[in-house]
Amino acid sequence: MKVFIEKNYDQLSKRAADMIAGEISKKPNSVLCLPTGSTPIGTYRELSGMYAAGKVDFSGIVTFNLDEYIGLRQDDENSYHYFMHHHLFDHINIKQGNAYIPDGLSENMEEACKNYDVKLDLYNEKDLLLTGIGQNGHIGFNEPDDRLFARTHTVLLSENTRAANARLFENADDVPKVAITMGIADIMHFKKMIIIANGTAKAAIIKDLLTGRMVDTHNTSSLTYLHNDVTVILDEEAASLL
Ligand code: GLP
Repeated sequence: MKVFIEKNYDQLSKRAADMIAGEISKKPNSVLCLPTGSTPIGTYRELSGMYAAGKVDFSGIVTFNLDEYIGLRQDDENSYHYFMHHHLFDHINIKQGNAYIPDGLSENMEEACKNYDVKLDLYNEKDLLLTGIGQNGHIGFNEPDDRLFARTHTVLLSENTRAANARLFENADDVPKVAITMGIADIMHFKKMIIIANGTAKAAIIKDLLTGRMVDTHNTSSLTYLHNDVTVILDEEAASLL
């Protein structure tokens, strides 16, 4: 694992955006995996700025999002569909149809999961995955458990995750209880992984990730020990327990 500790959130976001832009300029038809949450907002802001300045062209890329809440309309401000358009897609020239997000509104979630896997299987070469990390180590919505799903599946969110995400909802009870997420196998198939984390709330899990020596399904992020190209970008607060 390569680790970068940046002075602050802006520097962290800049480094992540530079790495992504670098990947796209090397390979304009890169297949990327993208996250939601507060952590990547700065990275998306940087990428949007680079596009506006003519420094990066997104017209050839394909993106897969990690996850989506089940039951939120796509125009709901808390849906990950809305998030992606608001923070990134509306500001860059990605082609409509090249951005895949799991369907949290299907009447048949089993089919929705299979459909996402079919889309993932269309691309043999998956290039770069950007992800945040939950306070409990989740990647996407792969929550701590005795066994983890390999592929796209629905998940009952842990109370810890619902509480951590409640700040974005009017009422804590409005946080959906279920979500759809890419599984750990597909996450690991991306050739490069970038994990970003900022703030003191992430310090404990970052310490676990960077000092733990075991692969532990109760800390999904530790599965990245099995991957050979992981870069972790932190701000000083997230790195404060190292
Ligand atoms: C959410 C998302 C994850 C994200 C994590 C951290 O639950 N499903 O993909 O990485 O929580 O969120 P944040 O960046 O807001 O701390």
